[in-house]
Amino acid sequence: EKGGYSSFMAKEIMDQPQAVADTLLGRYDVEGNLTLDELRIDEAVLRSVDKIVVLAAGTSSYAGMVAKYAIEHWCRIPVEVELSSEFRYRDPVVNARTLVVAISQSGETMDTIMALRHAREQGAKVVAICNTHGSTIPRESDAALYTHAGPEIAVASTKAFLAQITACYLLGLYLARLRGNKFDDEIREIVGQLQAMPDKIQKVLDGLEQVRTMARWMADTRSVLFLGRHVGFPVAMEGALKLKELAYIHAEGFAAGELKHGPIALIEPGQAVFVIVPSPRGRDSLHAKVVSNIQEINARGARTIVIAEEGDTDVVPYASEVIYVPQTPTLLAPLVTVVPLQVFACELATAKGLDVDQPRNLAKSVTVE
Ligand code: F6R
Repeated sequence: EKGGYSSFMAKEIMDQPQAVADTLLGRYDVEGNLTLDELRIDEAVLRSVDKIVVLAAGTSSYAGMVAKYAIEHWCRIPVEVELSSEFRYRDPVVNARTLVVAISQSGETMDTIMALRHAREQGAKVVAICNTHGSTIPRESDAALYTHAGPEIAVASTKAFLAQITACYLLGLYLARLRGNKFDDEIREIVGQLQAMPDKIQKVLDGLEQVRTMARWMADTRSVLFLGRHVGFPVAMEGALKLKELAYIHAEGFAAGELKHGPIALIEPGQAVFVIVPSPRGRDSLHAKVVSNIQEINARGARTIVIAEEGDTDVVPYASEVIYVPQTPTLLAPLVTVVPLQVFACELATAKGLDVDQPRNLAKSVTVE
Protein backbone atom coordinates (compact mmCIF):
# COMPACT_ATOMS: atom_id res chain seq x y z
CA GLU A 1 0.00 0.00 0.00
CA LYS A 2 2.79 2.43 0.90
CA GLY A 3 4.55 1.47 -2.33
CA GLY A 4 7.89 0.93 -0.59
CA TYR A 5 7.81 4.26 1.28
CA SER A 6 8.24 4.51 5.04
CA SER A 7 4.87 6.24 5.45
CA PHE A 8 1.73 7.09 3.51
CA MET A 9 2.72 10.71 3.81
CA ALA A 10 6.11 10.11 2.17
CA LYS A 11 4.30 8.32 -0.66
CA GLU A 12 1.62 10.98 -1.00
CA ILE A 13 4.29 13.67 -1.28
CA MET A 14 5.85 11.73 -4.15
CA ASP A 15 2.42 11.27 -5.78
CA GLN A 16 1.99 15.03 -6.17
CA PRO A 17 2.97 15.40 -9.85
CA GLN A 18 0.30 12.79 -10.63
CA ALA A 19 -2.28 14.43 -8.37
CA VAL A 20 -1.85 17.73 -10.22
CA ALA A 21 -1.79 16.08 -13.65
CA ASP A 22 -4.96 14.09 -12.85
CA THR A 23 -6.73 17.19 -11.59
CA LEU A 24 -5.95 18.95 -14.88
CA LEU A 25 -6.83 15.93 -17.03
CA GLY A 26 -9.77 16.32 -19.35
CA ARG A 27 -10.47 19.86 -18.21
CA TYR A 28 -9.15 21.64 -21.28
CA ASP A 29 -9.05 20.81 -24.96
CA VAL A 30 -6.07 20.85 -27.33
CA GLU A 31 -6.54 24.57 -27.87
CA GLY A 32 -6.36 25.25 -24.14
CA ASN A 33 -10.09 25.95 -23.81
CA LEU A 34 -11.38 25.03 -20.38
CA THR A 35 -14.23 22.57 -20.12
CA LEU A 36 -15.56 22.38 -16.60
CA ASP A 37 -18.69 20.39 -17.37
CA GLU A 38 -19.22 19.65 -13.70
CA LEU A 39 -19.81 23.30 -13.00
CA ARG A 40 -23.56 23.03 -13.33
CA ILE A 41 -24.39 26.56 -12.34
CA ASP A 42 -26.17 28.74 -14.86
CA GLU A 43 -23.63 30.80 -16.83
CA ALA A 44 -25.79 33.88 -16.36
CA VAL A 45 -25.53 33.40 -12.60
CA LEU A 46 -21.75 32.99 -12.79
CA ARG A 47 -21.51 36.15 -14.89
CA SER A 48 -23.48 38.12 -12.33
CA VAL A 49 -21.34 37.10 -9.36
CA ASP A 50 -19.94 40.18 -7.63
CA LYS A 51 -18.07 38.52 -4.80
CA ILE A 52 -16.46 35.16 -4.11
CA VAL A 53 -16.17 33.80 -0.59
CA VAL A 54 -13.88 30.85 -0.03
CA LEU A 55 -14.74 28.74 3.01
CA ALA A 56 -12.32 26.14 4.30
CA ALA A 57 -10.32 24.97 7.31
CA GLY A 58 -6.63 24.33 7.93
CA THR A 59 -4.54 23.45 4.91
CA SER A 60 -7.56 23.80 2.63
CA SER A 61 -7.89 27.44 3.74
CA TYR A 62 -4.33 28.07 2.53
CA ALA A 63 -5.33 26.73 -0.89
CA GLY A 64 -8.14 29.30 -0.65
CA MET A 65 -5.63 32.08 0.05
CA VAL A 66 -3.70 31.13 -3.08
CA ALA A 67 -7.02 31.17 -4.96
CA LYS A 68 -7.66 34.72 -3.79
CA TYR A 69 -4.47 36.06 -5.39
CA ALA A 70 -5.12 34.18 -8.64
CA ILE A 71 -8.86 34.78 -9.01
CA GLU A 72 -8.71 38.48 -8.15
CA HIS A 73 -5.92 38.95 -10.68
CA TRP A 74 -7.53 36.97 -13.48
CA CYS A 75 -11.21 37.75 -12.90
CA ARG A 76 -11.25 41.12 -11.13
CA ILE A 77 -13.85 39.75 -8.70
CA PRO A 78 -13.22 40.45 -5.00
CA VAL A 79 -12.41 37.24 -3.14
CA GLU A 80 -12.64 36.79 0.61
CA VAL A 81 -11.16 33.77 2.31
CA GLU A 82 -12.74 32.88 5.58
CA LEU A 83 -12.15 30.09 8.03
CA SER A 84 -15.30 28.00 8.04
CA SER A 85 -15.38 28.01 11.82
CA GLU A 86 -15.66 31.82 11.94
CA PHE A 87 -17.99 32.44 9.04
CA ARG A 88 -21.54 32.05 10.26
CA TYR A 89 -20.84 33.57 13.66
CA ARG A 90 -20.17 37.05 12.34
CA ASP A 91 -23.35 37.73 10.33
CA PRO A 92 -21.54 37.68 6.97
CA VAL A 93 -22.80 39.67 3.98
CA VAL A 94 -23.76 37.01 1.47
CA ASN A 95 -26.51 37.04 -1.16
CA ALA A 96 -27.57 35.62 -4.51
CA ARG A 97 -24.67 37.38 -6.24
CA THR A 98 -22.10 35.72 -3.99
CA LEU A 99 -20.32 32.61 -5.19
CA VAL A 100 -19.09 30.49 -2.30
CA VAL A 101 -16.22 28.10 -2.93
CA ALA A 102 -16.07 25.44 -0.22
CA ILE A 103 -12.72 23.65 -0.26
CA SER A 104 -12.40 20.34 1.56
CA GLN A 105 -10.32 17.24 1.04
CA SER A 106 -12.62 14.97 3.04
CA GLY A 107 -15.92 16.66 2.25
CA GLU A 108 -16.96 15.93 5.83
CA THR A 109 -15.49 18.83 7.80
CA MET A 110 -18.35 19.96 10.03
CA ASP A 111 -17.22 23.59 10.26
CA THR A 112 -17.31 23.84 6.48
CA ILE A 113 -20.65 22.03 6.19
CA MET A 114 -22.26 24.44 8.67
CA ALA A 115 -20.71 27.45 6.92
CA LEU A 116 -21.94 26.42 3.48
CA ARG A 117 -25.43 25.72 4.79
CA HIS A 118 -25.50 29.22 6.20
CA ALA A 119 -24.34 30.69 2.87
CA ARG A 120 -27.00 28.79 0.92
CA GLU A 121 -29.70 29.98 3.29
CA GLN A 122 -28.70 33.53 2.31
CA GLY A 123 -29.13 32.65 -1.37
CA ALA A 124 -25.48 32.14 -2.35
CA LYS A 125 -24.49 29.50 -4.88
CA VAL A 126 -21.87 27.06 -3.62
CA VAL A 127 -19.18 25.25 -5.60
CA ALA A 128 -17.37 22.53 -3.68
CA ILE A 129 -13.74 21.74 -4.43
CA CYS A 130 -13.45 18.32 -2.92
CA ASN A 131 -11.37 15.13 -3.11
CA THR A 132 -14.01 12.66 -1.91
CA HIS A 133 -16.82 11.63 -4.24
CA GLY A 134 -20.26 11.49 -2.73
CA SER A 135 -19.23 13.14 0.53
CA THR A 136 -21.45 15.64 2.32
CA ILE A 137 -19.92 18.91 1.10
CA PRO A 138 -20.29 18.24 -2.65
CA ARG A 139 -23.74 16.69 -2.06
CA GLU A 140 -24.91 19.84 -0.31
CA SER A 141 -23.38 22.19 -2.89
CA ASP A 142 -24.81 23.50 -6.16
CA ALA A 143 -21.86 22.10 -8.08
CA ALA A 144 -18.69 20.15 -7.38
CA LEU A 145 -15.28 20.44 -8.94
CA TYR A 146 -13.44 17.33 -7.82
CA THR A 147 -9.74 17.19 -7.15
CA HIS A 148 -8.37 13.94 -8.49
CA ALA A 149 -5.60 13.41 -5.97
CA GLY A 150 -6.74 9.89 -5.12
CA PRO A 151 -7.38 8.78 -1.53
CA GLU A 152 -5.25 10.64 0.99
CA ILE A 153 -4.46 8.34 3.91
CA ALA A 154 -1.96 10.32 5.98
CA VAL A 155 -3.73 12.66 8.38
CA ALA A 156 -1.69 15.67 7.25
CA SER A 157 -2.74 16.89 3.85
CA THR A 158 -0.15 17.09 1.04
CA LYS A 159 -1.23 15.90 -2.40
CA ALA A 160 -4.81 17.03 -1.81
CA PHE A 161 -3.47 20.53 -1.14
CA LEU A 162 -1.68 20.71 -4.49
CA ALA A 163 -4.76 19.34 -6.21
CA GLN A 164 -6.96 21.95 -4.48
CA ILE A 165 -4.71 24.78 -5.63
CA THR A 166 -4.82 23.35 -9.17
CA ALA A 167 -8.63 23.17 -9.10
CA CYS A 168 -8.77 26.78 -7.87
CA TYR A 169 -6.64 27.88 -10.83
CA LEU A 170 -8.99 26.07 -13.21
CA LEU A 171 -12.02 27.68 -11.63
CA GLY A 172 -10.41 31.13 -11.80
CA LEU A 173 -9.41 30.74 -15.44
CA TYR A 174 -12.85 29.43 -16.32
CA LEU A 175 -14.56 32.40 -14.68
CA ALA A 176 -12.13 34.85 -16.29
CA ARG A 177 -13.00 33.47 -19.70
CA LEU A 178 -16.71 33.33 -19.04
CA ARG A 179 -16.77 36.91 -17.89
CA GLY A 180 -14.52 38.10 -20.68
CA ASN A 181 -11.94 39.62 -18.37
CA LYS A 182 -8.94 38.29 -20.18
CA PHE A 183 -8.04 37.66 -23.76
CA ASP A 184 -8.28 34.03 -24.73
CA ASP A 185 -4.59 34.01 -25.67
CA GLU A 186 -3.57 34.95 -22.18
CA ILE A 187 -5.75 32.24 -20.65
CA ARG A 188 -4.38 29.69 -23.09
CA GLU A 189 -0.87 30.66 -22.13
CA ILE A 190 -1.57 30.14 -18.41
CA VAL A 191 -3.27 26.81 -19.15
CA GLY A 192 -0.10 25.80 -21.01
CA GLN A 193 2.02 26.83 -18.04
CA LEU A 194 -0.25 24.82 -15.73
CA GLN A 195 0.33 21.73 -17.86
CA ALA A 196 4.07 22.10 -17.28
CA MET A 197 3.68 22.08 -13.48
CA PRO A 198 3.68 18.29 -12.86
CA ASP A 199 7.17 18.04 -14.41
CA LYS A 200 8.38 20.96 -12.33
CA ILE A 201 7.04 19.39 -9.13
CA GLN A 202 8.80 16.17 -10.14
CA LYS A 203 12.02 18.11 -10.54
CA VAL A 204 11.70 19.44 -6.98
CA LEU A 205 11.05 15.91 -5.71
CA ASP A 206 14.12 14.61 -7.53
CA GLY A 207 16.41 17.04 -5.75
CA LEU A 208 15.38 16.86 -2.12
CA GLU A 209 18.43 15.27 -0.51
CA GLN A 210 19.55 18.69 0.73
CA VAL A 211 16.23 19.26 2.54
CA ARG A 212 16.26 15.78 4.03
CA THR A 213 19.79 16.18 5.38
CA MET A 214 18.92 19.57 6.82
CA ALA A 215 15.77 18.21 8.49
CA ARG A 216 17.75 15.44 10.17
CA TRP A 217 20.30 17.94 11.53
CA MET A 218 17.50 20.10 12.85
CA ALA A 219 15.65 17.39 14.78
CA ASP A 220 16.28 19.21 18.08
CA THR A 221 15.04 22.60 16.89
CA ARG A 222 12.44 24.15 19.18
CA SER A 223 11.01 26.87 17.00
CA VAL A 224 10.91 27.62 13.30
CA LEU A 225 9.51 30.69 11.56
CA PHE A 226 8.26 30.87 7.96
CA LEU A 227 8.07 34.07 5.95
CA GLY A 228 6.45 34.61 2.59
CA ARG A 229 4.82 37.33 0.61
CA HIS A 230 2.02 37.38 -2.02
CA VAL A 231 1.28 33.69 -2.80
CA GLY A 232 4.33 32.83 -0.69
CA PHE A 233 2.38 33.93 2.39
CA PRO A 234 -0.09 31.00 2.38
CA VAL A 235 2.86 28.73 1.58
CA ALA A 236 4.61 30.01 4.72
CA MET A 237 1.44 29.34 6.76
CA GLU A 238 1.25 25.83 5.36
CA GLY A 239 4.95 25.15 6.06
CA ALA A 240 4.39 26.16 9.68
CA LEU A 241 1.21 24.08 10.03
CA LYS A 242 2.93 20.97 8.65
CA LEU A 243 5.78 21.33 11.13
CA LYS A 244 3.42 21.81 14.12
CA GLU A 245 1.24 18.88 13.15
CA LEU A 246 3.95 16.38 12.33
CA ALA A 247 6.96 17.30 14.42
CA TYR A 248 5.26 19.05 17.37
CA ILE A 249 7.62 21.98 16.96
CA HIS A 250 6.50 25.51 17.60
CA ALA A 251 6.20 27.12 14.18
CA GLU A 252 4.65 30.28 12.84
CA GLY A 253 4.07 31.63 9.37
CA PHE A 254 4.11 35.37 8.70
CA ALA A 255 3.63 37.72 5.80
CA ALA A 256 7.18 38.93 5.18
CA GLY A 257 6.02 42.55 5.01
CA GLU A 258 4.74 42.24 8.59
CA LEU A 259 8.17 41.37 9.95
CA LYS A 260 8.92 44.95 10.96
CA HIS A 261 5.51 45.29 12.60
CA GLY A 262 6.35 42.81 15.33
CA PRO A 263 7.72 39.37 14.50
CA ILE A 264 11.27 40.66 13.97
CA ALA A 265 11.47 40.88 17.77
CA LEU A 266 11.56 37.08 17.78
CA ILE A 267 14.77 36.96 15.78
CA GLU A 268 17.79 36.01 17.85
CA PRO A 269 21.02 34.23 16.96
CA GLY A 270 20.36 30.72 15.71
CA GLN A 271 16.60 31.15 15.12
CA ALA A 272 15.67 29.08 12.07
CA VAL A 273 13.68 31.05 9.50
CA PHE A 274 12.41 29.73 6.19
CA VAL A 275 11.85 32.43 3.60
CA ILE A 276 9.86 31.83 0.42
CA VAL A 277 11.23 34.30 -2.12
CA PRO A 278 9.10 35.56 -5.02
CA SER A 279 10.48 35.32 -8.53
CA PRO A 280 13.00 38.03 -9.44
CA ARG A 281 11.19 38.13 -12.80
CA GLY A 282 7.93 39.18 -11.17
CA ARG A 283 6.60 42.72 -11.09
CA ASP A 284 6.23 45.11 -8.17
CA SER A 285 9.79 44.78 -6.78
CA LEU A 286 8.54 42.22 -4.27
CA HIS A 287 11.65 40.16 -4.82
CA ALA A 288 13.92 43.01 -3.67
CA LYS A 289 11.78 43.59 -0.59
CA VAL A 290 11.91 39.98 0.49
CA VAL A 291 15.67 39.83 -0.15
CA SER A 292 16.04 42.83 2.13
CA ASN A 293 14.00 40.99 4.81
CA ILE A 294 16.45 38.10 4.54
CA GLN A 295 19.33 40.53 4.89
CA GLU A 296 17.77 42.00 8.05
CA ILE A 297 17.18 38.71 9.80
CA ASN A 298 20.54 37.37 8.70
CA ALA A 299 22.20 40.43 10.27
CA ARG A 300 20.48 39.52 13.56
CA GLY A 301 21.99 36.08 13.50
CA ALA A 302 19.05 34.03 12.19
CA ARG A 303 19.71 30.82 10.32
CA THR A 304 18.03 31.64 7.02
CA ILE A 305 16.76 28.82 4.84
CA VAL A 306 15.71 30.33 1.57
CA ILE A 307 13.44 28.86 -1.08
CA ALA A 308 14.19 30.67 -4.30
CA GLU A 309 13.79 30.31 -8.00
CA GLU A 310 16.63 28.71 -9.98
CA GLY A 311 19.08 31.36 -11.08
CA ASP A 312 18.28 33.74 -8.21
CA THR A 313 21.76 34.61 -6.94
CA ASP A 314 20.68 37.74 -5.01
CA VAL A 315 19.71 35.64 -1.99
CA VAL A 316 23.01 33.78 -1.74
CA PRO A 317 24.99 36.26 0.41
CA TYR A 318 22.37 36.23 3.20
CA ALA A 319 21.28 32.61 3.16
CA SER A 320 22.56 29.80 5.36
CA GLU A 321 20.95 27.45 2.88
CA VAL A 322 19.29 27.99 -0.51
CA ILE A 323 16.77 25.50 -1.86
CA TYR A 324 16.17 26.13 -5.53
CA VAL A 325 12.88 25.39 -7.29
CA PRO A 326 12.17 25.63 -11.05
CA GLN A 327 11.08 28.92 -12.58
CA THR A 328 7.31 29.33 -12.71
CA PRO A 329 4.86 32.17 -13.31
CA THR A 330 4.38 33.95 -9.98
CA LEU A 331 0.81 32.80 -9.34
CA LEU A 332 1.66 29.13 -9.97
CA ALA A 333 4.72 29.10 -7.69
CA PRO A 334 2.99 27.57 -4.61
CA LEU A 335 2.82 24.22 -6.44
CA VAL A 336 6.61 24.02 -6.27
CA THR A 337 7.60 26.14 -3.27
CA VAL A 338 5.50 24.22 -0.73
CA VAL A 339 7.02 20.85 -1.60
CA PRO A 340 10.36 21.32 0.23
CA LEU A 341 8.41 22.45 3.31
CA GLN A 342 6.26 19.30 3.30
CA VAL A 343 9.36 17.14 2.95
CA PHE A 344 11.16 19.07 5.68
CA ALA A 345 8.32 18.48 8.18
CA CYS A 346 7.91 14.82 7.22
CA GLU A 347 11.63 14.09 7.43
CA LEU A 348 12.16 15.96 10.68
CA ALA A 349 9.23 14.19 12.34
CA THR A 350 10.53 10.85 11.10
CA ALA A 351 14.00 11.69 12.49
CA LYS A 352 12.32 12.35 15.86
CA GLY A 353 10.81 8.88 15.70
CA LEU A 354 7.23 10.16 15.35
CA ASP A 355 4.38 8.57 13.44
CA VAL A 356 3.91 10.98 10.54
CA ASP A 357 0.76 9.30 9.28
CA GLN A 358 -1.04 9.56 12.63
CA PRO A 359 0.09 12.66 14.52
CA ARG A 360 -1.14 12.88 18.09
CA ASN A 361 -4.55 14.44 18.80
CA LEU A 362 -5.49 14.80 15.12
CA ALA A 363 -8.15 13.11 12.98
CA LYS A 364 -8.32 12.92 9.19
CA SER A 365 -11.87 14.25 9.03
CA VAL A 366 -13.03 16.67 11.67
CA THR A 367 -16.72 15.84 11.86
CA VAL A 368 -17.51 17.93 14.92
CA GLU A 369 -17.77 21.70 15.15
C1 F6R B 1 -3.57 19.75 7.70
C2 F6R B 1 -4.88 19.14 7.68
C3 F6R B 1 -6.05 19.92 8.19
C4 F6R B 1 -7.16 19.89 7.14
C5 F6R B 1 -8.43 20.55 7.68
C6 F6R B 1 -9.51 20.61 6.61
O1 F6R B 1 -2.58 18.89 7.25
O2 F6R B 1 -5.01 18.04 7.24
O3 F6R B 1 -5.69 21.23 8.52
O4 F6R B 1 -6.69 20.55 6.00
O5 F6R B 1 -8.89 19.83 8.78
O6 F6R B 1 -9.87 19.35 6.18
P1 F6R B 1 -10.71 19.13 4.87
O7 F6R B 1 -9.91 19.63 3.72
O8 F6R B 1 -10.95 17.65 4.79
O9 F6R B 1 -11.99 19.92 5.02
